[in-house]
Amino acid sequence: EKIVLAYSGGLDTSIILTWLKENYNCDIIAVCCNAGQREDYDAIEKKAYATGASKAYILDIQDEFVTNYIWPTLKAGAIYENDYLLGTSMARPLMAKKLVEIAEAEGAYIIAHGCTGKGNDQVRFETTIKALNPAIKIIAPWRIWNLESREDLIEYAKAHHIPIAQTTEKIYSRDENIWHISHEGGNLENPWNEHKDDIHVLSVPVEQAPDTPTFVEIDFEQGIPIAINGEKMSGVKILEALNVLGSANGVGTIDIVENRLVGMKSRGVYETPGGTILYKAHAALEKLILDRNTMQYKNIVAQKYAQLVYDGLWFTPIRDAIAAFVDVTQKEVTGTVKIKLYKGSAIPVASKSPYSLYSEEFATFSKDEVYNQSDAEGFINLFSLPLKIRAIQKQQQCGE
Ligand code: ARG
Ligand code: SIN
Repeated sequence: EKIVLAYSGGLDTSIILTWLKENYNCDIIAVCCNAGQREDYDAIEKKAYATGASKAYILDIQDEFVTNYIWPTLKAGAIYENDYLLGTSMARPLMAKKLVEIAEAEGAYIIAHGCTGKGNDQVRFETTIKALNPAIKIIAPWRIWNLESREDLIEYAKAHHIPIAQTTEKIYSRDENIWHISHEGGNLENPWNEHKDDIHVLSVPVEQAPDTPTFVEIDFEQGIPIAINGEKMSGVKILEALNVLGSANGVGTIDIVENRLVGMKSRGVYETPGGTILYKAHAALEKLILDRNTMQYKNIVAQKYAQLVYDGLWFTPIRDAIAAFVDVTQKEVTGTVKIKLYKGSAIPVASKSPYSLYSEEFATFSKDEVYNQSDAEGFINLFSLPLKIRAIQKQQQCGE
């Protein structure tokens, strides 16, 4: 019997690995997905074997993550509760998909993960597994064992000779990938506590950002970023480059309270330096290109899309359908945006596109051929007709 374990190399999943072996008498196949979190993957692989895995996979999923998960979400302009750029939410379905693929290849029909029973991630992993292979059984140790606190874990680790990092106790629950890093727990649990500067691991606090602005130009093709300052590069390279620029200027840190799918509110700090720049740039380019109705409707579905992603409903007909709609809107979202990065802000300062609907000629006040000012009078007469009829009727009623 084999169990495929979503393994990060951290304390929790190391303990889970040991606990699974002890309680299920199974071979453990540890799967670690590299979604861009900065880790020593050779060390993680070694640690998996040292902790008792019979096989360890290290998968580089960065390209697939950027191309098939991040870009569609960016094109949709999806933002959860007006703040959160969904960094963890959109990574989970891809990771779960990889777990299913490995389970199938290995002839395993059990997948275990290290998410707690109180969060969103358990839902995202499991909805995906069920959508892709409903025969697979799921084990979520956090929901069944009697280890309840960090202290319990450390005690268990010591008793079972599981190596634990010597460094100071981990204060925050963090999740990192190429798009963002999240911080939850620790002193953030009291929302009256301001987060401290030392929470930052990607970006500088705004106060430490340079006093002179940095400018960056981003080229998009059909809604997808393809070049930085005129230099074409892969999606992963673009994000890496924008992460460097964004974090140096303190761009993209938010500190929010959010509604979890499982009913509770939670408080978190998120650093999304490159992603924040891309959202601003993409939205600015759309303003040049999309007509009013398309833009309005797209904003409506963006909210729905964000909730679907947050809720772990990636592999659903509705998300596919919205993504298809979004792709149609992106056909002409091609062009360049110049962004000014300065003390935490990423401000679009200039934009151009061969598909721009903006016309200086039409917008200007001087005489032109397309827009005849005397047409406006008739337009306003009909546009305001319902208002006028109502007003006349009111007057008549008063007069009776
Ligand atoms: N609250 C965020 C979300 O639900 C971040 C979750 C972070 N996950 C974690 N295992 N630390 O997407
Ligand atoms: C967890 O509880 O495993 C992390 C937080 C979340 O999933 O929302």
